[in-house]
Amino acid sequence: MSDLTAADPRAHWEEFYRTKRTGASGRPSGALLRFVADLPPGRALDLGSSHGDDVLWLAARGWQALGVEISQTAVDRARARAEEAGLTEAARFEQRDLAEGLPEGPFDLVTALYLQSPVALPRADILRAAAGVVRPGGHLLVVSHGAPPPWAAPEHRAHDFPTVASELADLGAPLAGWETRLAELVERPGRGPEGETATLLDTVIFLRRLP
Ligand SMILES: C[S@@+](CC[C@H](N)C(=O)[O-])C[C@H]1O[C@@H](n2cnc3c(N)ncnc32)[C@H](O)[C@@H]1O
Repeated sequence: MSDLTAADPRAHWEEFYRTKRTGASGRPSGALLRFVADLPPGRALDLGSSHGDDVLWLAARGWQALGVEISQTAVDRARARAEEAGLTEAARFEQRDLAEGLPEGPFDLVTALYLQSPVALPRADILRAAAGVVRPGGHLLVVSHGAPPPWAAPEHRAHDFPTVASELADLGAPLAGWETRLAELVERPGRGPEGETATLLDTVIFLRRLP
C-alpha cells in the first residue's frame, strides 16, 4: 500500500487529473438532481469541482456558479467545457487550495460533493467556512462517501468515511440558525471502473440557513 499521508495535496491531485483514465461524466451528481433542481437560481459555490459537471449543470439552470478546485488541470478542462457549452458567463472556475480559504460570499447555495481526499485536507475547517458563506435563506449540501466502494484501492479504503454524526459535528452541531432538511445515510446504485455494480452509501447533509 502506498503511503499518501505525506504527499503534497496540490501535486497529488495534479497527478491524479493528468493521468486520469476517465474524463468528465457530463452528468450532475444525483444529489443535485434530488435537492437543488427545485431551488430558485442564485449564486452558487461548488467545492472541489473536478471537471465541472455540477457547475455546468447549475449554470445551465440559471445559477451563477463558481467551482473551486486545487488542480489547475481540472480547472482548465472545466473552463474549456464551459466555453464549448457557451456558459462562460455563468460557469466560472478558480484554482484554489481550500485549506487556504474560500471565495468571498455570500452564496445562495454551497455544495461539497465527495470533497474527500487520501491526502491532507482540513475538511472540518472547510465545511465550517462553507457554512459561513451561505446567505440567510440559502442552502448547504454536503455529500460524502459513507463507505468505500468494493472496487476502492487499498490506500483509499484507509481514509475516513464520514458518518451523519461526524459530519454534523464537523459543521459545528448543534446547528443554531439552521434547518436540517436531511441528515441521513442514503443508498445509491454505483458503477466501478470496470463496469461492476454495487449499492453505495452516501452521507448526505442538506441544511437551510434560516433567514
Ligand atoms: C473525490 S473528488 C470529488 C470531485 C467532485 N466534487 C465529484 O463529486 O465528483 C475531490 C475533489 O476535491 C479536490 N480537492 C481536494 N483537495 C482540495 C483542496 N485542498 N482544495 C480544493 N480542491 C481540493 C480534488 O482535486 C478533487 O477534484
